[in-house]
Amino acid sequence: MKDMVYGSIGLEGFFRIEENQLILGNFTAKDLACRFGTPLFVFSESRIRHNVEKLFRIREAVDCEVKICYAAKANSNLGILRAIKEAGCDVEVNSGGELWKVQKAGFTAEQIIFNGNSKEIWEIENAIEAGIYSIQVDSVYELSLIEQTARRLNKPARVSLRIVPHIKSGTYSGLQTALLTSKFGMMPEEALEAFCDYKNSPYLKLNGIHVHIGSQNPDKRVYSEALEFLVETLLKVKEDVGVDLHHLNLGGGFPVNYLRYGFQEDGFAPSVKRVFASDFEPFDAMVDAWKNLADRAKLLENITLIFEPGRSIIADAGICLTTVRNIKHRSVSTSRPKDTWLLTDAGFNILLSMETYKWYYHLIHAERAGEPHKVPYKLGGPLCDGGDVYFDIEGKERLPDYRFLPEGTRPGDVLALLNCGAYSISQMFQYNGRFLPCVVLLTCNGEVVVIRKRDTFEDLLLNEIC
Ligand SMILES: Cc1ncc(COP(=O)(O)O)c(C=O)c1O
Repeated sequence: MKDMVYGSIGLEGFFRIEENQLILGNFTAKDLACRFGTPLFVFSESRIRHNVEKLFRIREAVDCEVKICYAAKANSNLGILRAIKEAGCDVEVNSGGELWKVQKAGFTAEQIIFNGNSKEIWEIENAIEAGIYSIQVDSVYELSLIEQTARRLNKPARVSLRIVPHIKSGTYSGLQTALLTSKFGMMPEEALEAFCDYKNSPYLKLNGIHVHIGSQNPDKRVYSEALEFLVETLLKVKEDVGVDLHHLNLGGGFPVNYLRYGFQEDGFAPSVKRVFASDFEPFDAMVDAWKNLADRAKLLENITLIFEPGRSIIADAGICLTTVRNIKHRSVSTSRPKDTWLLTDAGFNILLSMETYKWYYHLIHAERAGEPHKVPYKLGGPLCDGGDVYFDIEGKERLPDYRFLPEGTRPGDVLALLNCGAYSISQMFQYNGRFLPCVVLLTCNGEVVVIRKRDTFEDLLLNEIC
C-alpha cells in the first residue's frame, strides 16, 4: 500500500495545506466547519475566474466570435451565478425556473440561451417575451409550438436547432447525449426539413444549430468531430435551403480531472479511471478542431461559436466539508481482517452523482491534511440506503472499496471531498429529513460570504399543507 501524503497539493487562490491543516482562502477548513456546520459547501470565486479565463482562451484558438454560456444546471445558486456573470460568462438554462434565476442574477436577454427537451408553453412564452439570444429547439414538434407561441405573442423567437450527430464519446452511457439512442435533439434530415418549412416564417429567426456530445468527455477528438459536423451542416443549410446561419453551438462537456490528487487510482477499473482522470485544455481541443477544418474555417468568418460548459467552470471551484459522525469495526467473515467504517454527514442527497453515476470525489482529512493518508477505511454517508457509500456496492471493481486517511481518524474529524462544485447543490434534496447544507463563497477580496443558509425545521415543511 502506497503512503499518500498531500503536503504539496492545492489550487492557487483556493486551497492549500499548511501546518497539517487544509486552508481554504484565508480560513482553516476546521474553522469554517465549526462556524457554519457540516456538511458545508465552500466555493472559490478566484477559482471560478481562473476556469472562465481558461475557457476564454478558446478565442485564441479560433478565428471567429466566441460566446461562453455557463450551463446553469451544473450549479444555479444565485451567488454562484453572479460570480460567473462577473467573470464574464453568458449563460445557458434548461427550464423556465433557471431562466427566472439567471434573470434575477442579472444576466441580460442577449446573454441567455435556453435548452431542454420537454419545454412547457409558459417557458417558451417567457423565453420569447424576454427576447433571449436563442431557444435551442429539441424537435420538429417543439419548433411548431415555438412558432405558434411567437405568432400568438406577435414577437419573433430566435431559435437554434439541436441536432443529434451520432458522435460517441468515451464518457459514461448516462452522460452520452449525442447518439441516436439518446433522447435529445433531431436527426440531421429532420433539421434540414425544418429549415425548409420555417425559413419564411416571420415568427422564427432560424439562427443556428446545436450539438452537445456529453459531459466529462475524455477525448479531445469529439470536439473536432462535432465542429466538423456543424460546419458540414451549416453548408447544407446554406446550399440546400438558402438559410445563412449566425451561430454554431458546440455544447459543453469539457472534463475535469477528478483524480488530480488521486494516488488511489489503483482501485479503479481502467475505463472508469480514464473518464475520471480526463484532462485536456479546451483551448487545445479547439486548436485541433480548427486545424481539422482546414480551408472550411473560412466559412466561419461571420459565425459566432457558442460553448455551454458547466462542470469545467464550477467542479473544482467547490469543496464539500463533512464530519465523521460514527465509527464501527466489522469483518465480512472470520477469515478476513476487520474493516473500519466511518460514517459521515455527506450522503448522496447532497452529492447525487455518487448514486446515479457512482461518481468519485477524492477525500482528504481536513485537520490532518499533511499526515500520511495510509490507512484504508470504508466510507458511507448518513442515509438509510445501503447504497449511500463512497464505493460501488455492486463490487464491480469500478471504484476503490476503501478511502485512505490518517491512522486513528475518528468521529468529530472534518474531512474534505474535493471537486464537488458541479451537479451537487443543484441536485440536492431533503431525503430522510436532512437539512440542506449551508453554502459559502470565498470572495476574491478574501471574505467568506454565505450564499445559501442551512435549512431549518421549517424548511422541511415548505409547501406542505397541514
Ligand atoms: C445541452 C447541455 N449543454 C451543456 C451541458 C453542460 O455540460 P458540462 O457540465 O459537462 O460542461 C449539459 C449537461 O449535461 C447539457 O445537457
